[in-house]
Amino acid sequence: MALRAVFVVACLCLSLTARGAKHSFTAGDKVTLWANKVGPFSSPSETYQYYDLPFCQPENKDNKLLTLGEVVDGNRMVATPYDLSFRVDKDKATLCSRHLGVEDIKAFRTALAKDYYFQFFYDDLPIWGYVGKVETIKDADSKDTKKLFLFTHIHFDIAYNEDRIIEINVSTDPTQVADLSEGGAEEQDVTFTYSVTWKSSLLSFDKRMDKYRKYQFLKQHLEIHWFSIINSCVTVLLLTGFLATILMRVLKNDFVKYSRDDEDPDDAEESGWKFVHGDVFRFPPARSLFCALVGTGTQLLVLSFCVFGLALVGAFYPYNRGAMFTALIILYALTAGISGYTSASYYRQMEGTKWVGNLLLTSSIFCGPLFAIFCVNNTVAIAYGSTAALPFGTIVIILLLWALVTVPLTIVGGVLGKNTRTEFAAPCRTNKYPREIPELPWYRSVMPQMVMAGFLPFSAIYIELYYIFASVWGHKVYTIYSILFIVFCILCVVTAFITVALTYFQLAAEDHRWWWRSFLAGGSTGIFVYAYCFYYYLARSDMNGLMQATFYFGYNLMVCLGFFLLLGYIGWRSSLLFVRRIYRAIKCE
Ligand SMILES: *[C@@H]1O[C@H](CO)[C@@H](O)[C@H](O)[C@H]1NC(C)=O
Repeated sequence: MALRAVFVVACLCLSLTARGAKHSFTAGDKVTLWANKVGPFSSPSETYQYYDLPFCQPENKDNKLLTLGEVVDGNRMVATPYDLSFRVDKDKATLCSRHLGVEDIKAFRTALAKDYYFQFFYDDLPIWGYVGKVETIKDADSKDTKKLFLFTHIHFDIAYNEDRIIEINVSTDPTQVADLSEGGAEEQDVTFTYSVTWKSSLLSFDKRMDKYRKYQFLKQHLEIHWFSIINSCVTVLLLTGFLATILMRVLKNDFVKYSRDDEDPDDAEESGWKFVHGDVFRFPPARSLFCALVGTGTQLLVLSFCVFGLALVGAFYPYNRGAMFTALIILYALTAGISGYTSASYYRQMEGTKWVGNLLLTSSIFCGPLFAIFCVNNTVAIAYGSTAALPFGTIVIILLLWALVTVPLTIVGGVLGKNTRTEFAAPCRTNKYPREIPELPWYRSVMPQMVMAGFLPFSAIYIELYYIFASVWGHKVYTIYSILFIVFCILCVVTAFITVALTYFQLAAEDHRWWWRSFLAGGSTGIFVYAYCFYYYLARSDMNGLMQATFYFGYNLMVCLGFFLLLGYIGWRSSLLFVRRIYRAIKCE
C-alpha cells in the first residue's frame, strides 16, 4: 500500500515535469485525439466522461496520464479512434456504424435537451463542439414541437508549420444529423463520420496558445473592462484618500488637545481614545482561536501573492486550469509553515500556554471546512457519475500531501514560533480591571460596523467579480492577471484603511474591544462576496441542477472563507500598527 502510494507520487512528479515533451512530427505520424469531457453547457462543474455517451467506443480505453490539478479540475482523457495522422487529409472517413438501442437513444436525448458540449485535446490544444442541436418547429396545427438532432459528422481543420501542429478547429455539419426527437424511432442505426483538412500556417509554435488568450475578449470588450476598472479604482482611491485626510486632521487635533491637557491637567476633560489606554492592549478573549485565524490569514495572503506571481509570469493557460489547481494545492502545502509560525508566535506574545490546542486549531481552521465540503461535493458527484468526483488515488495523494507536508510544516512553524523571543510591544501598561464601556448607539455594534467596513472594499472589486465568476463558473476567458493583481492590491489597501478608520472611531467612543472587531470588520468583504455569489447564480447565470449548486455554493463558501481570513488579518494587522502608533505618541499614565 505504502509502496503503491510512493509510486503514485513519483508518477505525479514525473507527469509534472515531463509533459508535452514531443511536439514535432513527420507526415503520416499518428497523433492521438483525446476525448476529455462532455456536459451541459450552462453547468460547467457537471462533467461526464465522453464515452459515457454511446459514441463510437475505442477498442481499448487508453487513458492519458494527467497532472494532479487536471484531475481535480474534472478532466479524464481517453484516446479516441479518430485517425488524425499528421498531414493526412481525409475526405469522408467512417468512424463506425452502430446500432443505438433504447437506452442509447435515451442517453443522447438527455444530452441534446441539456445542450451538451464536448471537449477534445489534440497535441495539447483544446477544442470544443456541441453534441447536437435542438430545433423548435411549428407543425401543421402550429404547435411547437422540439426536434433533437445529433451531429454525426465532424470536420477538423488543422494548421501546421513544418513539423509542428499550430491550430485545430472543429466544426460539425448541421445537415448531417440523426433525428432523435421524442416520439421518433426508439432504435436506429447511425453512422459516425469525420473529415480532415490540413493547411500550412506561418504562425510559430510558441505563439499557438495566444489564440486562446484573446478568444472571446473582443477589443471593444477589453476597453470597456479597463475603463470600468480604472473608474471604480479611481473612485475608491479618491474616497479613501479623502477619508484619510479627515482622519489625519482629527488625529492631529487630538494630539494637540492631549498635549495641552498634559501641561494643564486641571481643566482637562476625561474623554476620547486616550482614556482607554489601560485597556486597548488587553489581549482578546479566545486568544487561541484568534491567533489561529490570524495565522491562517497570513498564510493565505502569502499564498495569494505567490499565485499572482505565477500568473503574472504566464504560468497559467486559459482553458487549462490544471496548472492553477496544482499550484494552489502545492503552494498551500508548502506555505503551511507560515500559518504555524505566525499563529504560535502571536499566541506566545499573548501569553498563551495551550500549544497543542492552538496548533490543532491552526491546522484545521481552513482545511477542516474544506474537507467537509469536499466530502459532500464528492458524494454528490459520485451519485451523478460525474468526472468531478475525484478518483481514490487522487484523494490518497492529496491526503498524503496533507499528512506528510502540510501538518509537519505547521508543527515546525509552530515550534519555531513558540520559541521566538519577541515581546508584544505594548506602549501602555494594561490595567488590572477593564474599564466600563459606555452605552453606545446601535450602529456602533459589530454587525452594522461590519456592513460599513465591507462596503467600500467590495465596491472596489464588484466589477471585477463578474469577470472572474464568468470565467470560473462559465465559459469566458480571463487572462488579464495584471488588472486582477492591481485590483487585489487596491482591495488590501482599502480594507486596511477602512478598518483603521473604524478602529479609531471605536476607540474614540471609548470602546476598547477592537481586536476581534477589526478582524471581523476587515474580513466582512468575504461575506459580501458570498452574497454576490447568490446574485450571480440567480440573476447572471443559467446554472442549474443539484450537483452544480452544491459545487458552486460549497466551493465558493471556501473561497469566501479564505477571503475573510486574509482580509481579516489585514484589517487587524493594520489596526494594530495604528493603535501602537497613536498610543506611543501620548503619555499614558
Ligand atoms: C480556425 O478558425 C478561425 C476563426 O474562424 C480561423 O481564423 C482559422 O483560420 C481557422 N483555422 C484553421 C486551421 O482552419
